[in-house]
Amino acid sequence: MTTRAIIRGSGSALPQRCVTNAEMAQMVDTTDEWIIERTGIRQRYIAGEGETTSTLATEAARRALAAAGIEASKVDLIVLATATPDQTFPATATIVQHNLGCNGGIAFDVAAVCSGFLYALATADSMIRTGMAKCALVIGAETFSKILDWDDRTTCVLFGDGAGAIVLEAQDVDENDPKAPGVIASRLHADGAHNELLYVDGGVSTTGTIGKVRMKGREVFRHAVTNLANVLREVLETSGHDAAEIDWVVPHQANFRILDATARKLDLPAEKVVVTVDRHANTSAASVPLAFDVAVRDGRIKKGDLVMFEAMGGGFTWGASLARI
Ligand SMILES: CC(C)(COP(=O)(O)OP(=O)(O)OC[C@H]1O[C@@H](n2cnc3c(N)ncnc32)[C@H](O)[C@@H]1OP(=O)(O)O)[C@@H](O)C(=O)NCCC(=O)NCCS
Repeated sequence: MTTRAIIRGSGSALPQRCVTNAEMAQMVDTTDEWIIERTGIRQRYIAGEGETTSTLATEAARRALAAAGIEASKVDLIVLATATPDQTFPATATIVQHNLGCNGGIAFDVAAVCSGFLYALATADSMIRTGMAKCALVIGAETFSKILDWDDRTTCVLFGDGAGAIVLEAQDVDENDPKAPGVIASRLHADGAHNELLYVDGGVSTTGTIGKVRMKGREVFRHAVTNLANVLREVLETSGHDAAEIDWVVPHQANFRILDATARKLDLPAEKVVVTVDRHANTSAASVPLAFDVAVRDGRIKKGDLVMFEAMGGGFTWGASLARI
């Protein structure tokens, strides 16, 4: 027997305001056709007054706990992935912990931008496997709209706000059973050589400002497909599973063409790829758990399914994780 982190439930939250491509075209020199053709995005949600990273994260966490049928008091670990925290410190995870009323356990943020959820998931999984925690909330939450340059059409049309969360619980399983539930294997990577391709041009210890997102989209695109295909193969190899066994891929929702090209590299049929980029745009660390929650709630992802999560983001950072639901 071995201890695994089992995914008990998921939840998500979006801001109230939905902004269509047509509305974006009134703000910058772009068109609905260009955005759809190049990215697959049709709309995004943008946080309004009173909606912050922690309020969205708290709502997503509450829904995940309700779906899992687990009381907040049982949560002894919160790992929250974000690049847009409420405050420079303390960690947004501690604000969520207090909102949920489960004070006293471990709570911290991870900063790996769009692959933040994969970093958070692998961290929580490791802590559960080693016995440091028994019940974890893994959250990806962003208000990326706050760091967008709303005059830069090459970036502002691509991103949105939102939050997604999952509940992980420790359970002893038979490690020789290929159908045993839980997180099976994860792999994470970073390559700091590409800072200038995707970054925010401000920060506490440099400019003293929050800064705005800057990106060389075409170069990011090329790296994304190669890195993602490689890390997916790595996780499959580590886990001993074959690509053909995967029931669902839940990729980071940056651009439909990236997720399509990555799936093709592994011969994964398009029907097995969960796509929400059309309705959420790129919500950075929130995108994978948001997409997962959509596919669980609409009945596509079911108990017993083998699910691959993957993401790539600024840093560069990238990672993948395979789990049996
Ligand atoms: C950003 C992205 C959609 C741009 O698509 P692309 O096909 O690479 O387009 P390019 O950047 O080469 O730009 C093509 C043209 O469209 C123009 N353009 C850029 N944004 C535009 C917009 N919103 N509306 C209309 N035209 C736009 C460019 O100025 C360029 O015009 P030019 O040829 O006259 O110079 C694409 O590169 C991408 O998705 N990259 C990955 C980004 C990503 O995933 N980032 C997050 C990772 S976590």
